[in-house]
Amino acid sequence: MIYVGSWIRCLREINDRMIECKSARQIERMREAGKIVAGALLLAKKLAKIGVTTEFLDGELDKYVRQHNGRAIFKGYMGYPKSICTSINEEVVHGIPGPRRLNEGDILSIDVGVEYKRYVADAAVTIPIARISPEAERILTVCEEALNRVIRNIRSGTKLSEVAGWIQQYVESNGYSVIRDYTGHGIGRDMHEDPQVPNYVSESLLARDVTLLAGTTLAIEPMICEGSADTEVLDNKWTVVTKDRKLSAHFEHTIVITDEGCEVLTRE
Ligand code: MF3
Ligand code: CO
Repeated sequence: MIYVGSWIRCLREINDRMIECKSARQIERMREAGKIVAGALLLAKKLAKIGVTTEFLDGELDKYVRQHNGRAIFKGYMGYPKSICTSINEEVVHGIPGPRRLNEGDILSIDVGVEYKRYVADAAVTIPIARISPEAERILTVCEEALNRVIRNIRSGTKLSEVAGWIQQYVESNGYSVIRDYTGHGIGRDMHEDPQVPNYVSESLLARDVTLLAGTTLAIEPMICEGSADTEVLDNKWTVVTKDRKLSAHFEHTIVITDEGCEVLTRE
């Protein structure tokens, strides 16, 4: 499916698909959506304490988003039942909020997507619950730094494969593996637009490689593991876990590429 919006300044072809460069007006809406996402994640950090259930967090964040005139877009997306994703420890992404209570030492990934005036922003953080082990601390630090390295280095002219390579190289040199079954993505009017943004370099990525230009909006989301990167989906059809049940971490920001670098749209 190719979406071609009305405010397109430039298009870049990859195979039969397009990357849309957003207009200032589109970016402003995504910035507003991004502020709501950032506020919701800040609230999550305040509320995520020992004994709290993930469905409580879901309710509170959904309320926050609605109070700010946004809509939590995960709800109903391909039948997803809740407003946010809460993925604990060996859960990689798409954990469904429920009656489970947070324990000391857990690491909790919270993923929030918000639509505001028909534009979308998406971000995630992995939150330590009370005191966590040094091993858990380290995987969070490496995952967040992998994302920050992209934010510091990306600019108009960067290739998609360079982004993938920066993440992979940094994560693997720190002894972790990179999830291959799920990727980051373009974002805008839809939560998932072209291009896919893998966190590793492959032949297929090099074959469809593309130069990223100013105005391109991406959700960059390293998902990394302590052990093997192999994943499986639980019987609830959503929750992605590591096959070896070792820890996984996930950080995500929505960014817009500029001539000088990038602007993070999901920061307060
Ligand atoms: N940040 C995730 C993504 O980019 C969240 C999707 S959860 C879903 O795909 F429920 F909406 F699928
Ligand atoms: Co995303």
